[in-house]
Amino acid sequence: MQNAEPIEPKAFLPRAERYWYVLATSEELKEKAPLARRLFGTPLVVFRGEDGKPGTLLDRCPHRNVPLSLGRTVEGKVECAYHGWRFDTGGACRFIPSLVGEPEGKGRRAPSYATREQDGFIWVYGAPDVTPTSEPHRFQYLGAPGYTTVTRKVTANGTLYSTVENALDVPHTAFLHKGLFRSDSRGITIEARVTRTADRVQAEYVGEPRPPGVVARILSPSGGVVTHFDRFILPSIAQVEYRIGDENHILVDSVMTPVDDFVTDIHAVVSYKMRIPGWIVKPILEPLALRVFAQDAVMLATQTETVKRFGGEQFVSTEIDVLGKHIKRLLRSAERGEPSSDEESSVQLVV
Ligand code: FES
Ligand SMILES: [Fe+2]
Repeated sequence: MQNAEPIEPKAFLPRAERYWYVLATSEELKEKAPLARRLFGTPLVVFRGEDGKPGTLLDRCPHRNVPLSLGRTVEGKVECAYHGWRFDTGGACRFIPSLVGEPEGKGRRAPSYATREQDGFIWVYGAPDVTPTSEPHRFQYLGAPGYTTVTRKVTANGTLYSTVENALDVPHTAFLHKGLFRSDSRGITIEARVTRTADRVQAEYVGEPRPPGVVARILSPSGGVVTHFDRFILPSIAQVEYRIGDENHILVDSVMTPVDDFVTDIHAVVSYKMRIPGWIVKPILEPLALRVFAQDAVMLATQTETVKRFGGEQFVSTEIDVLGKHIKRLLRSAERGEPSSDEESSVQLVV
């Protein structure tokens, strides 16, 4: 009997390659141990070069297809575990044991990916052997006076698109995260003003009262005006910004890495300035944030399972699925390397 081929579910899996993605934290990348990573399912090896600066190569030895990440880093070169060929961060073969002649040669090169170390992360450009035309995302309030910044990594079993949409989706918060973040609808109509430009889409929520959940009550006991922005920034950043009253400001950058079609890593960088000191806020907010994420993670994983079981996705949306279609549009344009057109719209929703 023949083995049946696994059915690849039809899903929205855009590949915006000419953009920067986080592959690891600076801390994870030690001097002597290369790291095995994946981006869009492609195996990559990350290691520190002679100057300590990181480099990324395709994780396949040009000699006999062994993953370079199985080896070690020797004098700033990654050394293959099979015959000991050594490659520098540019992908050139610099040493072949027992070979009398030159180690270098065009066919002996490993494709290399532009890499940067910035703000405690190792960023990689998604296309090999090209010079990037942009620089990685900056975290606006990292190190800003009065701000505390916390970073966490979590993994979601969802496509990049579904994971980004989940992070920016307002209607599920009152339902799935009932009591934690938002409570039951209070029948207040608010407006979402949506602005899409070449590399991002933003929703500004106008008229939002302070949410009644635990989190908001800690932040602003007296109520106060809420300013709330949700943004998607190409290729994979979900940004949520809240100002509650005059004294509280929080900006969450969820930087996503499409590891595989249905696995997305999320590095959350949370910067905040609060009415109460950061050291009090942190132990209260952190477990709550992790609970919120755990609820989202269950939904994303079951969503993925269902898509696989049915062999494909089905999306039906209403206008309160505010950002989904814009995120799709931006990702599609980014994949083709074309800028998306600008658009402005406004949606009403009841919270
Ligand atoms: S397979 Fe890498 S050196 Fe031979
Ligand atoms: Fe959520």
